[in-house]
Amino acid sequence: MTRTARPRRFLMCRPTHFEVSYAINPWMDPAKPVDTGLAVAQWERLYELYVELGHRVDLIDPLPGLPDMVYAANGATVVDGRVLGARFRNAERAAEGPAYLAWFRANGFTTHDPVHVNEGEGDLLLTGSYLLAGRGFRSVTAGHAEAQEFLGRPVVGLDLVDPRFYHLDTALGVLDDDEVVYYPGAFSAGSREVLRRLFPDAVLVEEADAAVFGLNLMSDGLNVVLPEAATGVAARLRERGFRPIGVDLSELFKGGGSVKCCTLHVREAA
Ligand code: ARG
Repeated sequence: MTRTARPRRFLMCRPTHFEVSYAINPWMDPAKPVDTGLAVAQWERLYELYVELGHRVDLIDPLPGLPDMVYAANGATVVDGRVLGARFRNAERAAEGPAYLAWFRANGFTTHDPVHVNEGEGDLLLTGSYLLAGRGFRSVTAGHAEAQEFLGRPVVGLDLVDPRFYHLDTALGVLDDDEVVYYPGAFSAGSREVLRRLFPDAVLVEEADAAVFGLNLMSDGLNVVLPEAATGVAARLRERGFRPIGVDLSELFKGGGSVKCCTLHVREAA
């Protein structure tokens, strides 16, 4: 199969103020030291890689006191140039939603300020046919309905059951239109069955791959940027004709995120 890379537009946030000062997921341990300088260097490598691959990357200014703002994927969900803002479950991250929404408003996008909790692309992943929507730990069903109404894409709710995989983008990666890779153990039995029916040809991976955030990836249809420790996922993707590129984001891993978390996909109007 011939794969083609499609240039994309991303929004990222430099981890200038990154630290782990609170714990809102099982990966975060405020007692463990974080090297902010190293986090910035690793993040810059990811930024440069995207630019080398031909993508456009815009930057939003990091705000002091919002250490998780680096996880730009949570900032909004953008489909056809329409921006659904994020509303966070945890008070620690609440101010990020308005900050991202302000950036989009200043850059001329049509925006919607959400009423219900949705944590952006952390839980809302667009495929060619659906808006896959995670719930169980962060985003809620009412937030999914709000996303469907504003973005006009059919929402498929998926129940996450393992707290280590608290956001959908830690359990499932979109590779191309309707081609996905996921770790079945992160989902309820019913949601596994839904995924099996919608994506019979999906790549299924093991717990060990998911536990190094191997599913927290960004694909452009050919190049798939993912954590370098996820060698199992990389091998499977290579078999499928993709070009996996591993990166080291060890410091951002300490906050419970990796490649996809740091990357918000800005899908412009056609
Ligand atoms: N510390 C952040 C949180 O727990 C990490 C978010 C990771 N982002 C993601 N898209 N999964 O909310």
